[in-house]
Amino acid sequence: MRAFIAIDFRDDIKKDILAVQQFIRGHALAGRWKQVNNFHLTLKFLGEITPGAADRVCAFMDDVASRHSSFELSLGQIGFFKGHGVLRVVWLGIEGDKDALYELQRDIDSSLVSVDFKSDNRFSPHITLGQDVKLDMPFEDLREAVSPAKCAIGVHAFYLMDSRVVEGRRIYTPIKQFPLARR
Ligand code: 2AM
Repeated sequence: MRAFIAIDFRDDIKKDILAVQQFIRGHALAGRWKQVNNFHLTLKFLGEITPGAADRVCAFMDDVASRHSSFELSLGQIGFFKGHGVLRVVWLGIEGDKDALYELQRDIDSSLVSVDFKSDNRFSPHITLGQDVKLDMPFEDLREAVSPAKCAIGVHAFYLMDSRVVEGRRIYTPIKQFPLARR
């Protein structure tokens, strides 16, 4: 299976993210856009893994989850990763208790080194909205015009996610939940 570890969002938060994406789409000449159900925050990309590796990952993730308490995030500003002549990824940033988010991500990353995954030292939390985007206005002007809803996102769990293509559409499905300790 193709897998990754992520924070999933409640439906009302996904709608708030969709509103930002729709605003950007209104100023886009081109782009490939994430489906509303697929909005998430990746903590660690695993790639193709065997069922045996998935079991080992889950055992380590249970331990990680038991060491962290729930925390609160909120939606931040939009940003992008550059490509050649396009915005390779347009994303929505994250605010709130970023220290708790980074601590959780570091613990996941370092625990998975013992299951033979390479460590990524460059975690840059983002919610992908679209890829290969061309805009009809300067990105900075768009950033000034976008104001995401100021909602509290309680993070009470993270998930092992399966990524597959069904009838030509990519679908991300949470397959195991790792609940964080309650504060
Ligand atoms: P993205 O959000 O920047 O697109 C499922 O594909 C998730 O894993 C997506 O969130 C994607 O990041 C991330 N992902 C996909 N391929 C990756 C790779 N090679 N390295 C790191 N993350 C990857």
